[in-house]
Amino acid sequence: MRILVLGAAGFIGSNLVRRCLRDPANRVVALDFLDPRLQSSLASLADVMSAIEFVRGDIRDEALIGDLVDGQDVIFNCAAQTSHSFAMSDPLFDADVNCLGNLRLLEALRARDPERRTVVVYTSSSTAVGPVDGRPIDETHLERPLDIYSANKCAAEKYYRIYHHVHDVKTVVLRFANVYGPHGKASPAFGFVNYFIQLAFKGEDITVYGGGEQRRNVLFVGDAVEILYRSAFDSRLIGTLHFAVHDEHLPVREIAHSIVSVFGRGRVAHVDWPQARRRIEIVDQFIAARGLQELTGWRPQCSFEQGLVETKRIMDAD
Ligand SMILES: NC(=O)c1ccc[n+]([C@@H]2O[C@H](COP(=O)([O-])OP(=O)(O)OC[C@H]3O[C@@H](n4cnc5c(N)ncnc54)[C@H](O)[C@@H]3O)[C@@H](O)[C@H]2O)c1
Repeated sequence: MRILVLGAAGFIGSNLVRRCLRDPANRVVALDFLDPRLQSSLASLADVMSAIEFVRGDIRDEALIGDLVDGQDVIFNCAAQTSHSFAMSDPLFDADVNCLGNLRLLEALRARDPERRTVVVYTSSSTAVGPVDGRPIDETHLERPLDIYSANKCAAEKYYRIYHHVHDVKTVVLRFANVYGPHGKASPAFGFVNYFIQLAFKGEDITVYGGGEQRRNVLFVGDAVEILYRSAFDSRLIGTLHFAVHDEHLPVREIAHSIVSVFGRGRVAHVDWPQARRRIEIVDQFIAARGLQELTGWRPQCSFEQGLVETKRIMDAD
């Protein structure tokens, strides 16, 4: 299989590259623009660089993307501006990458893949739905995103649906929530679970806003990349959108305490909510992946505890 991973130096992208390489018949092209604002570097791919073709480039570069999509069997689009707070301070940049970047990719496929051979898998976000009405929610839930990143992810999902519906492009959209694991970023702007893990790894204290009662689905990145990889080869998923989340639904304070306990370092401290953060806080979110599970039989393999132990093992070995 010829596979193109976009956003390959990022957290999910770099883990996905490793999953693709587990099948020795795969040829992997990996693209990332390594913009310092998004805090990715080639360190996440260091041990697999010799097994891939790495391209430093931008998904918004029409000519480059046109050339790269040509002849691919599968494209995973993990390239995104992924910080909720950065999206609020620079909404135009977020829209440029998260909306126009996706449109450029889909346009390239429309033009360069007339036989519709290529499957394109898009990593979306559960935050597209915003605050939830009941529990547990599924894909029929109303979409009321509270921040620019989530609104733009929500718009991009529609582009994939439209290009499938109108142009027969083979699209799959999976919505993830709070993925954690090795190669996660050490900044609170890019997901709190990985940030907490990095703090505990360094022996620093974890700060939780308020009491930390709000619940979140959490998913080990090994499970996330497995369902991403499988989804590209499952014709039942073409043209669909599904949540790809774990059934585990844990309060933030419990997430923090489990991390401290598995890593054996640091402590958990509580502080008041910063105003700007509270306004885009989605409070409790309980998502069910029943649709994906019923269609494909997929079940995440790792409990939160097991995923943390595996993360620590890999981080200690690096
Ligand atoms: N990590 C999570 O918990 C989570 C949850 C829901 C959805 N997602 C989605 O999964 C995908 C990957 O997220 P992640 O956690 O790996 O984020 P990440 O920030 O670690 O990775 C994104 C990568 O995309 C690259 N990128 C951004 N804009 C680009 C551009 N214009 N051209 C080329 N490369 C570009 C960045 O340099 C970065 O390496 C994103 O679409 C994100 O919205 C992630």
